[in-house]
Amino acid sequence: MPRPIIEPFRIKVVEPIRMTTARERHRILKTAHYNLFGVRADDVVIDLLTDSGTGAMSAEQWAAMMRGDESYAGARSYYRFAEAARALTGMPFVFPTHQGRAAERILCAVTPLAGKTVLSNGLFDTTRANVEAAGARGVDLSRADALVAHAPFGGDMDVEAFDRAMEAGHGDVAFVVMTITNNTVGGQAVSLANLRTVSRRCRAARVPLVLDACRFAENAYRVRRDEPAERGRPLESIVRESFDLSDIFTMSAKKDAIVNMGGMLGMRDAELADRVRVELIRTEGFPSYGGLAGRDLEAIAQGLREVLDESYLEYRFAASEYLARSLARAGWTVVEPAAAHAVYVDAGAALPHLGPHDLPGQSLACALYLAGGVRTCELGELMFGAEGARRQLVRFALPRRVYTQSHIDYVGAIAEEVAAVRGSLPSMRIVEGADQKLRHFTASLAPAAPFPIA
Ligand code: F0G
Repeated sequence: MPRPIIEPFRIKVVEPIRMTTARERHRILKTAHYNLFGVRADDVVIDLLTDSGTGAMSAEQWAAMMRGDESYAGARSYYRFAEAARALTGMPFVFPTHQGRAAERILCAVTPLAGKTVLSNGLFDTTRANVEAAGARGVDLSRADALVAHAPFGGDMDVEAFDRAMEAGHGDVAFVVMTITNNTVGGQAVSLANLRTVSRRCRAARVPLVLDACRFAENAYRVRRDEPAERGRPLESIVRESFDLSDIFTMSAKKDAIVNMGGMLGMRDAELADRVRVELIRTEGFPSYGGLAGRDLEAIAQGLREVLDESYLEYRFAASEYLARSLARAGWTVVEPAAAHAVYVDAGAALPHLGPHDLPGQSLACALYLAGGVRTCELGELMFGAEGARRQLVRFALPRRVYTQSHIDYVGAIAEEVAAVRGSLPSMRIVEGADQKLRHFTASLAPAAPFPIA
């Protein structure tokens, strides 16, 4: 028997999972108007809604939190945070923020954006919302074959499209965002070769390159494993080069810093840092805490070190690949390769009796909840609208260090049960809130027929 890759941790504190019956779940989902964001977490058996802020902190992180210095200005915890962030990224200016989108908002507030364009390999929805709120147009230039090519770096920028857009932009491109890994495009990784190409173009055109770096460690691990030129290279060095190629970074610490809350904004340019400092004080807090408690800064500093642990990342990739295999075995069409943070199922392809307007992703997500209390997230027409949705995906996101292999086996079994009735999963429609921005959080929905799940 080949040696299994084990969870490289022991469990010291446990949180009970409340089991529910299918009958209860039918009632709960109806009360939540078939919107899984409206379901109470206590009513969920396995919660794969997001990998953001849902990770389990280590004993060392909890210990560090006890050392948190809650001084208003110049807290010791701030210096620990700044030292860890600078050592990792090499950026001379790093500011804490309360989460990733606060960093995005501040960057967009201090950059002249009205009437400008922001180019990206794939803007995350909050990044796009912040860019657009500041009056710029966000343009995604992901590879056309990103979700079907089964290539290890489906998250890359389409360089030809990028060159055309830079030329057509005539100096109107305010900045370029590279999202690693590319969450809205199947969570696919970005190659270092692609990052180098985009960086070279940006520097030649004097356009700042912004790294949306919340999954920097998972991206670096994929680079080392699957980009032949980078094989065998220390992860720290790949991470550092990714930051070296960029001028600014935003980061949600809720992902690869393995904390429940936090973010940061970093840059090389001292003049930009001055503007950020003022905006940060106006809206987040003093620059040495940025909307976080001292203990949060301690946990981030420790998490940034832990995430590059080899056995952790090996297990992390093994876990998502294991889930992807069990979903594929159950008959679901899985976006390959599986991202480290999530497995994406192509519900449009797997439920051909439903068109995109029937919201097949939401129908599948509801069915998984009804069958076994598994909460996932639709990334299709409900989330992105008819124009924005390229495919009808369901994301099974894996919180960090939370679920064991038997939990994943359970998800596989539920997915198999749902696969057995997939031909009769009903279409869904939005009954309220269709026109609201970020409607997937709040819309009320209804199935056209009862779910075939007892
Ligand atoms: N950028 C990316 C690529 C993200 O995935 C997220 C959050 C953010 C920025 C914003 O960070 O939540 O700390 O403000 N993604 C979460 C998710 C919400 O479920 O994928 P935040």
